[in-house]
Amino acid sequence: MIDNISQRLKSILTWIGESDKIADIGCDHGYLGILSLGKNVKYIQNIDNKEGPLSSAKQNFKDLDHNAEVFFTLSSGMDDLNEEVDTVCICGMGADNIIEIISKHLQRAKRLKKIILVPHTKPFLIRKFLSSNNFKIADEMIIFENNKYYEAFCVVPTNELVELSDDECLLGPVLLRNKSKVFIDKWSIRYNHLNDIIRGLNESSDSYKKIKREMLIIKNNVGDINEEGLSRKS
Ligand SMILES: C[S@@+](CC[C@H](N)C(=O)[O-])C[C@H]1O[C@@H](n2cnc3c(N)ncnc32)[C@H](O)[C@@H]1O
Repeated sequence: MIDNISQRLKSILTWIGESDKIADIGCDHGYLGILSLGKNVKYIQNIDNKEGPLSSAKQNFKDLDHNAEVFFTLSSGMDDLNEEVDTVCICGMGADNIIEIISKHLQRAKRLKKIILVPHTKPFLIRKFLSSNNFKIADEMIIFENNKYYEAFCVVPTNELVELSDDECLLGPVLLRNKSKVFIDKWSIRYNHLNDIIRGLNESSDSYKKIKREMLIIKNNVGDINEEGLSRKS
């Protein structure tokens, strides 16, 4: 079973440790929890708001040999989060849904040790939300799977003011510092895609201005343009 689990979920295991008491919200098949057993996690609350996915998680855990406390909760978001949980994972949902889930229980979210997020859309919206609610992005990564780039976040609540610039919201404060190959690839492809779109737009339109602004942020931070598109900035 483990072999077939997506790289997207395997990658974020790096942020999960033995002492974490995790809840996997939107657990579906329960694969993240199952992977966490391999990190000796002793407490897992699998939560899904649909019966089908939750039964499949139960089924997948059924014959596993482990000594963790495992719970299955049919519920929405953090509505029935167990008090013991200190690490919440929300993966494979759209940014709007993730933001709604955290906003609804903001005070409980503030009491968590960490939150691990892998939105499948609009990571910049997640960053904006996190910074305006004083959650610090402790680490970020980009995962390339099935021809798609996913951005993943390891987040910690803080009492300090967390301010992100527009550039950091788009590109990621940690990712921007490291400028890995996958980061350069992702933004080079995005830049070239935007460049194709903008050719057909009227320069006075809002869409043109919005795209131009994004292209400028990419160009300023990621690399210089040459005939092949973007090349790495030193
Ligand atoms: C696309 S699957 C992602 C599964 C897994 N987390 C992953 O990343 O591979 C999304 C799951 O989230 C569940 N879901 C969506 N909204 C939810 C909510 N508000 N509360 C709990 N589960 C939710 C869906 O039922 C579905 O099983």
